[in-house]
Amino acid sequence: MKNIDSYISNHQFDIIDITDDEFNLIRELIYSQSGIVLSDKKKSLVAGRLQKVLKQYQLNNFNDYYNELNKDKSGALLTELIDKISTNHTFFGRENDHFEYFKDIVLPELSKIKIESNNLDLRVWSAGCSTGEEAYTLAFIIREFFKNNFHKWDTGVLATDISSTVLSKAMQGIYDGSKFHGFHSEWKLRYFKKIDDNKWEVIPEIKSEIVFRRFNLLTPKFCFKTQMDVIFCRNVMIYFDKQTRAAVIQNLYDTLTDGGYLFIGHSEAIDRTQTKFQYISPSIYKK
Ligand SMILES: C[S@@+](CC[C@H](N)C(=O)[O-])C[C@H]1O[C@@H](n2cnc3c(N)ncnc32)[C@H](O)[C@@H]1O
Repeated sequence: MKNIDSYISNHQFDIIDITDDEFNLIRELIYSQSGIVLSDKKKSLVAGRLQKVLKQYQLNNFNDYYNELNKDKSGALLTELIDKISTNHTFFGRENDHFEYFKDIVLPELSKIKIESNNLDLRVWSAGCSTGEEAYTLAFIIREFFKNNFHKWDTGVLATDISSTVLSKAMQGIYDGSKFHGFHSEWKLRYFKKIDDNKWEVIPEIKSEIVFRRFNLLTPKFCFKTQMDVIFCRNVMIYFDKQTRAAVIQNLYDTLTDGGYLFIGHSEAIDRTQTKFQYISPSIYKK
């Protein structure tokens, strides 16, 4: 009779290894569908993140998984793969100087221009919004900035991501205490409802100002009904190669109104010799 150790190792906790060829097939697919580049070092991370998926579909190896991905016409398996692989880390107040710049420079400048041209419409896009903290913060700042005049303005925040898992969390708008590190405590009281000791939910008035949509930044041409005044696309393009980054930056440029602003992550930069953007700082650009 088998002892309990051999039962456990043969069944429930077996690790399915990934070969170099299987890893190459899967990373090529991820790259072609999302732009995310995975170096050789990410092989065990990919295998680790996909173990449960293979077990769920009762697949014995990554080659069979790759074949299933290609067979699945619905795209659901591919969506799930990208969900598992993308890095979604974010929190309220991340790279806070961007939000200060948005409040102190961008909103006063753009609102003045818009008032002069009698066009009280402001569109802001959080591209690669992950679980929504960035998009909600932009909505809080817009509210705070316009104060009593807020209802005279037609403002809106579009929040998009390739991952449907993070988007559903963003739409729920429920966050635990760890997400608020360094965040304005009075905003927490004003714009959230306490659910329990460690959970806070964004109030419906703010939720209704944000449109959450799945959108792949690899889309060859962005076709939005209206142009954006400000785009936050932070800590997304770090996972792309030079060629993909250049194509996305060009599309972001075309999506902005003249005089509009683009914010990228602190550890990112745009090659100033290759872009029409005006340089403001390493992570802030203007059209
Ligand atoms: C680290 S999070 C950034 C969140 C937030 N912008 C911030 O700076 O904290 C990166 C997000 O980019 C998304 N992403 C990766 N590739 C993408 C693509 N091709 N199109 C749209 N979103 C993508 C991921 O799903 C992930 O949620």
